[in-house]
Amino acid sequence: MKKNCPYVKSVLVTGASSGIGKETADLFAMNGFQVYAASRHPGKTENPNIHPVEMDVTDERSIEKAAAGIPELGIIIHCAGFGVSGSAEMTPSDRARAQMETNYFGVLNVNRVFLPLLRRNSRSLVLITGSVAGFISIPYQSHYSSSKYALEAYSRALRMEAGQFGVNVTIVEPGDTKTGFTKARTSDEPENSPYIKQCQDSVAHMAHDEQTGRPANSVANVFLKLAFRRNPPVNVAVGFEYKAIALLARILPSRLVTWLVKSIYIG
Ligand SMILES: NC(=O)c1ccc[n+]([C@@H]2O[C@H](COP(=O)([O-])OP(=O)(O)OC[C@H]3O[C@@H](n4cnc5c(N)ncnc54)[C@H](OP(=O)(O)O)[C@@H]3O)[C@@H](O)[C@H]2O)c1
Repeated sequence: MKKNCPYVKSVLVTGASSGIGKETADLFAMNGFQVYAASRHPGKTENPNIHPVEMDVTDERSIEKAAAGIPELGIIIHCAGFGVSGSAEMTPSDRARAQMETNYFGVLNVNRVFLPLLRRNSRSLVLITGSVAGFISIPYQSHYSSSKYALEAYSRALRMEAGQFGVNVTIVEPGDTKTGFTKARTSDEPENSPYIKQCQDSVAHMAHDEQTGRPANSVANVFLKLAFRRNPPVNVAVGFEYKAIALLARILPSRLVTWLVKSIYIG
């Protein structure tokens, strides 16, 4: 028998027009939640439990406008994000900043507006999409990795602070997942860069791994399970192989982990 959901069954999903966010919105709607499905390009839906919301997580005004139409909320699920690719040295700094604006500050912006609504409940939940790249840095994804490492730190601190108001916080760490993420990734390495060939090969390897990776509903299912837990964990890697990688990354020497990751992506 399924457990009772301890939260108000009203959920805001960011990045809900594609991939993990879309699967999550559909799955929660199917399970009787009222879903506010937010993105910059929300599609139409016939599902009466899904309410499309136009929201750019980098634009505080658009978040406040969206909040005006959401009377109560028990759960926020942060899925909005994208990837910048390029070398640590040569990626233009405006592109590195754009990466942080969406993946990191986007989460802060949304929480700043919606946490007061969550604090009205005796219990509520914030789920953040991190990544395996949030605890293992990936070459030619240094700015993406940095944005996810930053979310690891932020989510733990938020959990300690907001816990007094009954707000639970968990960061979910998917590995390679087949979504629109691969196509949406931007190529930011200058053509004349000394890293260009290795960068292109490494990103092609990554793209292949993603497109042969787990389906997006593997992550949505983890979110749904967490929505039925009173005391969710601090972090969850998605799938057995990524749970094993997370454990190894913690116990193996950093020199060995770095060598292994380099061997996979660069050779
Ligand atoms: N796919 C993977 O292998 C993988 C692995 C680990 C972690 N992740 C993480 O999973 C999350 C979801 O990505 P995905 O794989 O599902 O990719 P996706 O299919 O490209 O979906 C990304 C979503 O984010 C939205 N988005 C992007 N920028 C936004 C902005 N400024 N404001 C509001 N919404 C925005 C997009 O919608 P609009 O364009 O309509 O705004 C889209 O709905 C991301 O945080 C990503 O880093 C993905």
